Amino acid sequence: MSILSFDNVSYQYPSEDFDIIDRLSLSVEPGSFHCIIGISGCGKSTIFRMTNGLLQPKTGNICVNGNPITGQNHYCGYMPQKDMLFPWKTIGENLALPLEIQRKYSKAEQRELIDAALADVGLDGCRDKRPDELSGGMRQRAAFARTMLTGSDLLLLDEPFSALDFLTRISMQEWLLDQWQRHKKTILFITHDVEEAVFLSSSVLVVEETPIHSLREIPVPMKYPRTRQDLTRPEIVELREQLVDMLRKQVVV
Ligand SMILES: Nc1ncnc2c1ncn2[C@@H]1O[C@H](COP(=O)(O)OP(=O)(O)OP(=O)(O)O)[C@@H](O)[C@H]1O
Ligand SMILES: [Mg+2]
Repeated sequence: MSILSFDNVSYQYPSEDFDIIDRLSLSVEPGSFHCIIGISGCGKSTIFRMTNGLLQPKTGNICVNGNPITGQNHYCGYMPQKDMLFPWKTIGENLALPLEIQRKYSKAEQRELIDAALADVGLDGCRDKRPDELSGGMRQRAAFARTMLTGSDLLLLDEPFSALDFLTRISMQEWLLDQWQRHKKTILFITHDVEEAVFLSSSVLVVEETPIHSLREIPVPMKYPRTRQDLTRPEIVELREQLVDMLRKQVVV
């Protein structure tokens, strides 16, 4: 069974006069890692907002693990595009939020889970710090730890590394692949960086048109674990260029 399915889903923003998502159907296999690429404003984040129940589709059905999503229930971990840690809360308080929402852990259990999650992302000792005391990469790891604490098998990450410098970004990519493999999650990851998409994805989902009616799935012929050296293989270089061409065709200058 697919972990996420869209069946003829349409969405229209109230201020717009057309459907930005137009009868979209898709199906995501458990354990896969897909990057979604597409030009700015094509509707990528809208797909995530609907999957997370923040926006209700105009028509069609969305199921996570076979269950139709409803506004109240959160079936996926969502890391939105904008900085998402509350600056006035400590890292520990930020990470407690998904646990409080689940209403099944005592304060002591929450503390244990938070400390384990911080250790897992290499942020031991940061529980009482505030977000502005951490570097960009550390903040992204804290935000990722908070997303993991939702306990969801499906993670939606919206351009999580786009604000990071190149070296931090490539080490975060390696770190994320390691997390994905260890925790056996399913990840959907929006990016504008074609190389990042190829390095991370089992297959890349390309938005070729707006309104979005379908996502074109392009498999990446590389086994995991991957190294950056794999990116220099001729078929991978060719794939990258093919993806850039697919996006450039849509940009009107
Ligand atoms: N609240 C809103 N009301 C009206 N239109 C909106 C709203 N939010 C987004 N849009 C429009 O819907 C379209 C898709 O937005 P969305 O945020 O999904 O794009 P995106 O593909 O994630 O873009 P980017 O790559 O720049 O993040 C855009 O044209 C945007 O202007
Ligand atoms: Mg977006």
